[in-house]
Parts: sequence; C-alpha cells; structure tokens
Amino acid sequence: MNLGILTGGGDCPGLNPVIRAAVKTSLRYGYRVVGIRNGWKGLVENDTQILDLNAVSGILHRGGTILGTSRTNPYKDPAALAKLKKNFKALGLDALIAIGGDDTLGVASKLAKEGFDVVGVPKTIDNDLTGTDFTFGFDTAVNVAMEAIDRLHSTAESHQRIMVVEVMGRHAGWIAVHSGIAGGADLILIPEIPIKMAEVCGVIKKRSARGKNFSIIVVAEGAKFDGAEVTLEKKLDEFGHVRLGGIGELLAKKIEEETGFETRVTVLGHIQRGGSATAFDRVLGTRFGAKAVELVKAGKFGQMVALRANDIIDIPIEVAVGTLKTVGTEFYEMAHSFFG
Ligand code: F6P
Repeated sequence: MNLGILTGGGDCPGLNPVIRAAVKTSLRYGYRVVGIRNGWKGLVENDTQILDLNAVSGILHRGGTILGTSRTNPYKDPAALAKLKKNFKALGLDALIAIGGDDTLGVASKLAKEGFDVVGVPKTIDNDLTGTDFTFGFDTAVNVAMEAIDRLHSTAESHQRIMVVEVMGRHAGWIAVHSGIAGGADLILIPEIPIKMAEVCGVIKKRSARGKNFSIIVVAEGAKFDGAEVTLEKKLDEFGHVRLGGIGELLAKKIEEETGFETRVTVLGHIQRGGSATAFDRVLGTRFGAKAVELVKAGKFGQMVALRANDIIDIPIEVAVGTLKTVGTEFYEMAHSFFG
C-alpha cells in the first residue's frame, strides 16, 4: 500500500500529531507513506517526501505542519487539476489522507466522487465543520484566547477601560463563545447574532452603575456590523474567501463615541493558530490520525473521521462540507445569561 498524506488550508495546532499517528499506524501495517508538500499544490507540482519513522519522531509537540500547507484549489484551474490527477497515478498512490477544513475536504470530496481513494481528517481552529463535535486545533485556539482575556482583565480594571478582544473563527462564533465563557467576558458578539449597539452600551453602563468601570468584550472577526462583515481586503482567495478583520476597531470607536469610556482593542490573529497543541488537541489528533488509516485499511473511501460523544466514527466527507456548523441559539442564550 502506497499511502499519501497532505495538510491543506490554514495551519492549526494538532496537525503534526495527526501526521505522526497516521504514519506510525501505517508503518505497523507495512504501508509506505508519501508526504505531499504544501497541500493540493504539492500534488499538482509532484512535491513529495517519504515519511518514515524518523521523519515523524519528535513532532508531537510541534505547532504547524511538517508537510507545509497552502490554500491551493485545483478545481479553480483545469490544467492544475489534470496535473494533480496525473501525479496521483504516477506516484502510485493507492489512497490519500487529506487533512484540512471545509476547503481542503471539499476538494477531497470531489476527488472521491471521481473515483480517487481519499479519506478526510477534519482540521480547523474555527470548529465549523458539520458532523464532528470538535475539530482539532479549536481547543488550543480557545485556550490561547482565554489566557489573553484573563490577562486583559487586570489592565482593563487598572485603567477603567473597555477592552475589545477580536478573535478568529471566520463565519462561526465558536472560538468567541467558548473563550468568552471560559474567560468571563462581559459580552460576546458572534456572526450568528446581529450586533446591537444599544445592548453593547447597555452592558457597559450597567456594569459601571454597580462600580465596575471596566468591561471585556469578545468579538468574533466575522461578527456583522450594520448587517455586513468587516474585511481587511476585498480580494478573494482561491476558495472565494475574503480576509476578515477590523470589527474590533470599528466596535471600539463606536463604544467610545456612545459611552465616553476609553476603549482599547486587541486582535489575537494568528497567535491563536501558532505554537504547540493542547493535550486535548494532541489526543484528538492522534485518535483521528490512527482512525484515518483504519478507514484506508477497511477501504472506506470518501469518508471522514469525526468525534461523536467521545467516540471516533466516520461520516461521508460531503456531509461535513455541505453546511457550515454555526453556534446555535440555545448555546448562545446560555452564554448570554452571564453577560454584564
Ligand atoms: O480558517 C482558519 C482561519 O484562521 C480563520 O479563523 C481566519 O479567518 C483565516 O483562517 C485566516 O486565514 P489566513 O491565515 O489566510 O490569513
């Protein structure tokens, strides 16, 4: 068995634990593992490396991905897609494990439908993939954001300021809600619920009236202001995504104008994606990597590993990429009851 492995899309803590587990499990079955460099780009350009035991030793605690990654979408370019398919065969790949978010897995799903033997592993700090309770990388991002919120509390209180913390998550508010609950934020604003300035200012003023002249507001990068997302640039990437960012600054300006409170913004950005994974993400990544190889062994192609009620199961990749998993009203309402 010649097994290919690639990591695509934004990097994320836990990728190396997945690669390590998949390679070690494969080697036990006597498989030869070919690492594809830089996501789908590596398959288009035939850029590969052999993954033996030494290649994956000592990588468990390392952030990023030893294989590199890219946001290349081969379905955007017929010539690139043709090269990819040719290389898949030329490399003698019997199967491929694609580790990625909705974009990478969207390509995996299309290839599987065209008859290529592909298995998926769900990765993203955004936790927005349907069918799995959690994606790996999310827990690390939440912990990074929680620690930042903890630290901002003391300086907010000392200066009697409003602190706006902008977190990632694209069109879903998972990182914001989880880190906001864990960090005791006074308000959490997410893409799923329109921002109401009257509520934002109301919370700040209510806290001030009981002597708390500071507040922490967590805002997801995709939260909508006046019904629209705030973007850093309009240019779309190969999967049609805009670069989100700027909602924190916009909100801070409005808060200062409407409440008179001095307001500061912290944009956590890629700090949420860098560095080593939490224990939870290392364990989840290890379980996902091992299970992905079991799916290959069982010939269950077009499937993706998923976490469901603490069991690792498999579901069709197309289910995971079909709809975005967003924060539900009930969960947000629970978080909401602790605001202010
Ligand atoms: O999907 C992961 C993610 O980190 C999003 O939360 C964020 O919007 C995006 O990637 C940032 O992408 P890039 O690394 O290309 O700036």
